Amino acid sequence: MTYSTTFSFRIPTVIEYGAGRLKTLPALVQTLGGCRILVVGDPGIKAAGIMDRVMDTLGNADIQAWEFTDVKSDPAVQSVTHGIAKARSLQCDLVVGVGGGSALDTSKAIGLMLGNTGTIKDYVGIDKVPNAGAPVIAIPTTAGTGSELTIWSVLSDTESDAKISIGSVFNCPRIGLLDPELTVSMPAHVTAATGMDALTHAVESCVCKANQPITEALTHKAIFLIAKSLRNAVADGQHIAARGDMLLASAMAGIAFNATRLGLVHAFALPLGNKFGIAHGLANAIMLPSVMAYNASHNIAGYAAVAELLNDGEKWKKPIDAARYAAHAVATLRRDVGITRTLSDFGVTERDFDEIIDEAMKSGNVLVNPRFPSREDMAALLRHGMHGTVEDVQRN
Ligand SMILES: [Fe+2]
Repeated sequence: MTYSTTFSFRIPTVIEYGAGRLKTLPALVQTLGGCRILVVGDPGIKAAGIMDRVMDTLGNADIQAWEFTDVKSDPAVQSVTHGIAKARSLQCDLVVGVGGGSALDTSKAIGLMLGNTGTIKDYVGIDKVPNAGAPVIAIPTTAGTGSELTIWSVLSDTESDAKISIGSVFNCPRIGLLDPELTVSMPAHVTAATGMDALTHAVESCVCKANQPITEALTHKAIFLIAKSLRNAVADGQHIAARGDMLLASAMAGIAFNATRLGLVHAFALPLGNKFGIAHGLANAIMLPSVMAYNASHNIAGYAAVAELLNDGEKWKKPIDAARYAAHAVATLRRDVGITRTLSDFGVTERDFDEIIDEAMKSGNVLVNPRFPSREDMAALLRHGMHGTVEDVQRN
């Protein structure tokens, strides 16, 4: 296995895991010294009754808390601005984020700005934030983004019509509360797409140029858990053990890519989301197998290990055969969890390639991908994304 020769690794977030652990929220709030709480979630979380469960849990412990549900599926800078204004006017000293990646990214940005001046747009990039914010407790209700543990918040800036990313150790939640019971209301198609996002995090992290022994251990366990449980979680939403495995896998992959970054799939996902509105997990699911096939010859040991972890009984004579097979195992998993759409289904045509490639090549994730792509390579990968194919690219 190839590792980066220098690396750093830290986990600033405490993980609290277990079915029913929501009931410990008041004690966790008190541990962090929180007295006035802003609870951030999206309207879907409110409609599913999860926001009320969180508010009741805090209210029953006589902890003052206020709801903030102005969170879009593509979280916007404006939502953060409104949330900060509400938190400041109520003198909130702790933020609880509950929901998927959008709600958690918004809650993290609000918490961050409670300890910093200016606007969230002043801190775009990595390590630009000078001060810690208010503590954040992140409660994921999906299993994919890893936002409950990552340094990143990704927000839409409607003024520039672009996505902005804020990456800072101060943007890590203080506590990630992982309660599988809170993910059972997630519909099957969301379970599938977010699960494929977690798989993409794990695979891209462990094969990338910044791979390191510590993160590799986490990603390998994450891939093992996803191979074991994603199909079950999609088929039976009430399957608590499968839901728990997916939450853990998502968290482990999130910790890993905090340190390593990702690869070409995530470079593509940003413009595919911005321009065509393709949900992040779905964009990753569409692009992952062909990118894996393209990369396989440039990290044979890494991809062979992924093939072993996906473990569908296939045997190989040579490591390169295993490495190439990994892409097909992921394509099979993608099909089994019901993801059959392609980029063409979202209106992507060859005429859009230049714009997508221009945007994708700006991503820092390209630099750590096992293979540096030409524009022609990128176009070939998008063509596979349009047709849902894997085969041809792997012979490059
Ligand atoms: Fe992702």
